[in-house]
Amino acid sequence: LYRKSASKELPSFLLLGPLGAGKTSLLTLFANGTASSTHTSQEPQSAVCQLPLSIRSSEDQYRSENDTSARSQPKFLLLDTPGHGKLRRHAQSSLTTASALKGLIFVVDSAAVSSASGLTEAAEYLHEVLLLLQKRHTQGKTSKDPQAIPVLVAANKQDVFTSLPVGLVKSKLEGEIAKVRQTRSKGLLDSGIGMEDESGADEEGNWLGEYGAKEFRFTQMEEHGVEVTTVGGNVRGEGEEKGFVSDWWSWIGENI
Ligand code: GTP
Ligand code: MG
Repeated sequence: LYRKSASKELPSFLLLGPLGAGKTSLLTLFANGTASSTHTSQEPQSAVCQLPLSIRSSEDQYRSENDTSARSQPKFLLLDTPGHGKLRRHAQSSLTTASALKGLIFVVDSAAVSSASGLTEAAEYLHEVLLLLQKRHTQGKTSKDPQAIPVLVAANKQDVFTSLPVGLVKSKLEGEIAKVRQTRSKGLLDSGIGMEDESGADEEGNWLGEYGAKEFRFTQMEEHGVEVTTVGGNVRGEGEEKGFVSDWWSWIGENI
């Protein structure tokens, strides 16, 4: 019984993102050290992972480089969710029920976002997730401890020849989220929702980032307590490039 409650207290990170982005592959790599082959996920799953010795954690920052005493690397729970649009309620409920949630990892396929439909799919999902976090922060403001949850946009599949470089993945997503935001807001106005007295407040509450801004930048999320970082990597890869995920590990180390 004691053990059970102890494992419940593990800090957790949540994997989200479109179909086939590489979430489950990443989970197997982080949990087992090698990426296993996967099938489209239909259910959420989780695994206990431990920060590799080469990665420093936030707790470690005051330790001397010369301190050779054994340090125990922190463990955490990694939660995987299905990317399929019809199964995203799993992701949403994990977002609200996960205990000790330290961060979200939004995985995107850097090659898929080079197509218009792939980009729209990723941006719509990311918009939805960020808006949830923004609302959570707004509501939390009245409580003692408004939870700030950082987001890692993991630009995966950098090994693929047609993938976009990280900077471009980021700017394309920002540009597309601006469009999603515009469409959503126009949709609300057209439908008459938010035309009543509290309309202003309502429309503002459903607007992601800086209210009324034409452009969207991930940095606009900071005033809503959400720090978004875009980092490239690849879970799989041919031959020499066996996968590159150390920068994602570092992000976890900083946020654990
Ligand atoms: P859903 O569960 O359907 O939402 O997908 P998922 O995000 O869990 O994707 P999954 O991990 O199942 O990976 C989908 C496919 O992409 C698999 O065939 C993986 O082998 C492949 N894949 C994942 N990461 C990489 C990568 O970094 N590079 C390459 N080349 N392929 C990858
Ligand atoms: Mg999966």
